Amino acid sequence: MKLCVALDNDSIVDNLALAEKLKDCDIWLKVGFRSYIRDGKEFLIELKKINPNFKIFLDLKLYDIPNTMADAAYEISQLGVDMFNVHASAGKIAMKEVMDRIKDLPNRPLVLAVTALTSFDNENFKYIYNENIAQKATTFAKDSYEAGLDGVVCSAFESLDIKNNTAKEFITLTPGIRPFGEDAGDQQRVADINVAFEQMVDFIVVGRPIYKSSNPKEVVEKILERL
Ligand code: C5P
Repeated sequence: MKLCVALDNDSIVDNLALAEKLKDCDIWLKVGFRSYIRDGKEFLIELKKINPNFKIFLDLKLYDIPNTMADAAYEISQLGVDMFNVHASAGKIAMKEVMDRIKDLPNRPLVLAVTALTSFDNENFKYIYNENIAQKATTFAKDSYEAGLDGVVCSAFESLDIKNNTAKEFITLTPGIRPFGEDAGDQQRVADINVAFEQMVDFIVVGRPIYKSSNPKEVVEKILERL
């Protein structure tokens, strides 16, 4: 299991300072909407300068018509990131088109599909998708698997069922992790490291418990000890 640290700080200065503190740790970094919209490609370059071996997950959750998604996937592949994601609800045709566009590129990034955001509770999820989270997350995962993606973003509670319905190697990446039972914030379906292990999760994403801590490196080391 790998740890992916969300760089969701208020400024590029704070994010780079965090990356600097964690430069010797065996971790992935997650660059999301906020940081990428604000700091763009330059930010990715600065991160690689701190440690060229940092693996970067660009969490932009693409959702658009198939051709636009495939074009965007191609552009993301040129950024030198190691992983990015799309929404499974954009549909199988769009996901296939994404994979067709990038599959022959050298060192293409891994592609994951978001199933159900971890901030949804069942009631709010059902309002939009008309199905229970667990059921629909598995259906979305099967679609993503059949479209040739590398894995999915899901909650830790859905990981094992998804693997049983796709393949053991099909990657699960789970946000909403509170490693040692910290405050959930806006996340509804939070899990700790034990749940992640039981569910055979491949990547845990941790944001606030690390970047809001007064000693982020200590928190990361404590998590890495457990992994
Ligand atoms: O601070 P926290 O640990 O809750 O951060 C979780 C991170 O994972 C945030 O950057 C959030 O955007 C992202 N994420 C999520 N749920 C998803 C996909 C991504 O919380 N399904």
